[in-house]
Amino acid sequence: MSTRILILYFSRNGSTQQLADAIAEGVSSTGAEAIMRSVSASGDAASERDLAVSLSDLEQCDGLIMGSPTRFGHMASALQQFWETSSSSWLRGVLVDKPAAVFTSSSSMHGGQETTLLSMMVPLLHHGMLLVGIPYTVPAIQTTDAGGTPYGASHVEHAAGKHLSADERSAAIALGARVGQLASSLKSRS
Ligand SMILES: Cc1cc2nc3c(=O)[nH]c(=O)nc-3n(C[C@H](O)[C@H](O)[C@H](O)COP(=O)(O)O)c2cc1C
Repeated sequence: MSTRILILYFSRNGSTQQLADAIAEGVSSTGAEAIMRSVSASGDAASERDLAVSLSDLEQCDGLIMGSPTRFGHMASALQQFWETSSSSWLRGVLVDKPAAVFTSSSSMHGGQETTLLSMMVPLLHHGMLLVGIPYTVPAIQTTDAGGTPYGASHVEHAAGKHLSADERSAAIALGARVGQLASSLKSRS
C-alpha cells in the first residue's frame, strides 16, 4: 500500500488552503499519497472542497501535516476542537512514531506565525509524533522576504492576498516532500 500523508487543515478564506495544495504537491513528488481533509466549526464554513477529517483518517495515515490560519497567535479553535475528540486514538497510540509537520497563514509578518506553528506541534507531540521542520539547506528559507520558517511552511498575506510567493511555495513543497520521504522510509523499515 502507498504511503499516505494526511494534510489536515482549516481555511476560511483560502490562504491556508493554497499552502495545503503546495504541500500536497511536495508529498506527491515523493510517490506518497496526499489525503486532504478539513474541519468545520460553527460560524465558520469549512472547506467545501475536501472531506471532513475523521478519527479513522488518523489511524490510516503514515504521516500528518496540519495547517491553520494564525488566530491571535494560535491555531483556529476548529482544529483544537478536533484534537479534543481524539482521546481514543491517543489511548491506542495510533499516531506514535509517525512523522508530522505544521503550516500557517497570517495577515501580517510579525502577527504570530511562530507562536502558532510551535503551539500546533503540542497536541502532535502528545500523540507521539515525530516533528519535522524545514532546514536552512532549503534555499527559500534563507531568501524569503515573506513566509517560510524553520518551524514549518507559512504564508504572509500582506498585499499578496492568498497568492504564495515563489519562496513560500518552494518551502511548502519542500516540507511536503520531506514528510513524504521520511514516512515512506519509516514505513519500509517496519
Ligand atoms: C479571529 C481572527 C484572528 C486572527 N488573528 C491574527 C493574528 O493574530 N495575526 C495575524 O497576522 N493575522 C490574524 N488573522 C488573519 C488571518 O490569520 C489571515 O487572514 C489568514 O491568512 C487567513 O487564512 P485563511 O485564508 O486560510 O482563512 C486573524 C483572523 C481572524 C478571523
